[in-house]
Amino acid sequence: MKNFLVIFSLSILLISCKSVPEKRTINRGIVSEHAMVVSARKEASKIGLEILKKGGNAFDAMVATELSLAVAYPFAGNLGGGGFMVYRKNNGEIGALDYREKAPQAANKNMFLDENGEIIPAKSTLGAMSIGVPGTVAGVFAVHEKFGTLPIQDILSPIIELAKKGVVVTKKQENRLKKYQPLFKKVNKNSIQFGLQWKANDTIKYFALAATLSRILDHGKSEFYEGETAKKLVNYIQNNGGIMTEEDLKKYEAKWREPIEFRYDDLTVISMSPPSSGGVCLAQIMKMIEPFDLQEFGHNSARSIQVITEASRRAYADRSFYLGDPDFVSIPIKELIDETYLNDRMKLFSFQNATLSSEVSHGNIEIIESDETTHYSIIDQFGNAISATTTLNGAYGSKLYCAELGFFLNNQMDDFSSKPGEPNMFGLIGAEANSIQPEKRMLSSMTPTIVEKKGKLLMSVGTPGGSTIITAVLQTILNVHEFNLSMQEAVNAARFHHQWLPDEIRMEPNSFKESVKAELKSKGYIINEDRSPIIGKVDGILVLDNGSLEGGADKRGDDTAVGF
Ligand code: DON
Repeated sequence: MKNFLVIFSLSILLISCKSVPEKRTINRGIVSEHAMVVSARKEASKIGLEILKKGGNAFDAMVATELSLAVAYPFAGNLGGGGFMVYRKNNGEIGALDYREKAPQAANKNMFLDENGEIIPAKSTLGAMSIGVPGTVAGVFAVHEKFGTLPIQDILSPIIELAKKGVVVTKKQENRLKKYQPLFKKVNKNSIQFGLQWKANDTIKYFALAATLSRILDHGKSEFYEGETAKKLVNYIQNNGGIMTEEDLKKYEAKWREPIEFRYDDLTVISMSPPSSGGVCLAQIMKMIEPFDLQEFGHNSARSIQVITEASRRAYADRSFYLGDPDFVSIPIKELIDETYLNDRMKLFSFQNATLSSEVSHGNIEIIESDETTHYSIIDQFGNAISATTTLNGAYGSKLYCAELGFFLNNQMDDFSSKPGEPNMFGLIGAEANSIQPEKRMLSSMTPTIVEKKGKLLMSVGTPGGSTIITAVLQTILNVHEFNLSMQEAVNAARFHHQWLPDEIRMEPNSFKESVKAELKSKGYIINEDRSPIIGKVDGILVLDNGSLEGGADKRGDDTAVGF
């Protein structure tokens, strides 16, 4: 393990401190011939892969992996949260599913403000008021109904078994549990299973969750949204001061959406559309940097960082003004990702000096009426690919754990803009487009993405990381496409992030060359290496030239790629 860590750190250093030499040995992650699953926990990846081995397709495996993560990775995997999935079938057909949470019907614009109009600390992040109507169960059933091939029983049974048998605690999990136990205590009326002094190698068994999953197996989606589970859940939330009703659950539906699709060099990038900002922002940033020769500038060189930073700054400024739930606000997507508009946005950029965020606002568009999430990637033996990101929002969501049902509830309401101009927990500023309204979906940064090269499947990729998701996905794609890194190297490489406000480049600490940082500082960039010890936890799969699959599993977590 120690040796591995040394090699891993050295490779990070090598990758991040030098521009990539012409001829170098490529260090690949695991390579498999036919199919692969990469997720935040070995147990979930393995159950997903077993489903593929049984003859299931990527969609069956999506259902299996998503629900396995709810058992094996309660930090972010969930029944009480939501997510997004982008897919590309082997015939080239693409699509996207939105199983994002919604605001309850009794929500209102000022629900997190006091009588003076000031934000009430922690109301949108801790406890029952922060919970959005969960979408995950509706999401997996929508996927299974449309594309599944195996009986739901075959998919759910191994997950229920896993919950009963229990999951072994990893060192990283032990540390996470320790970190959040004071908040579990503060938020929950009674002590919860996760509040015990778990140590690495202990096994946690999840009997209540197994029972909930068994009922879902017996009665389907309606068990969660209308059945015994729904009733217990609503009772529990209301007893804790929340506003969600049985009607809220009953009305919840996952929605199929058109993904965002755009070109970058010879790539076609397919990513999540609103209510995630991921695809639009990724498209904006990539289109803004396309005219620059990043390869020539070098990987993580000052010039590359500058170009990506300046494009990100402008995209995040647009994000905060224009983006929200498309069912509630009209979003000028075509205009936002229009090349002429984006070239114009970069006009004032110069390599001499940083642009100041205070001088950048959202662009003018004529509107014609018209470190807690988790990502997994799957490519099956038939050539279908999915990319899915799912979340409770913060670590263990609202920290409210329904012991009777066996799962944590999200705190996704914090992804709304509680007050225009005030940052949320990711420091993101929002405006009217993302204000709270009953039944509206909160804006997300989740960016599950699939990339094609010359019309063929190239990559499935995504990550957690709140506002840093978009830039982490971006850098991983660029690491492969521009800098010829393998999938695993691209995932390992040091990452940085700029989101317009605050006006700083966040960098993973001790990962970038001193000379690069000095050059950036001399041009007026503020560098913050304290805020984010890690930026994203990227999982991806790359299709190699010979058709085999390389997994990139982020060792910043316990992430694991498995294949056959
Ligand atoms: O949807 C979003 O953008 C956030 N709720 C994601 C949260 C997240 O990635 C937390 N992980 N570190």
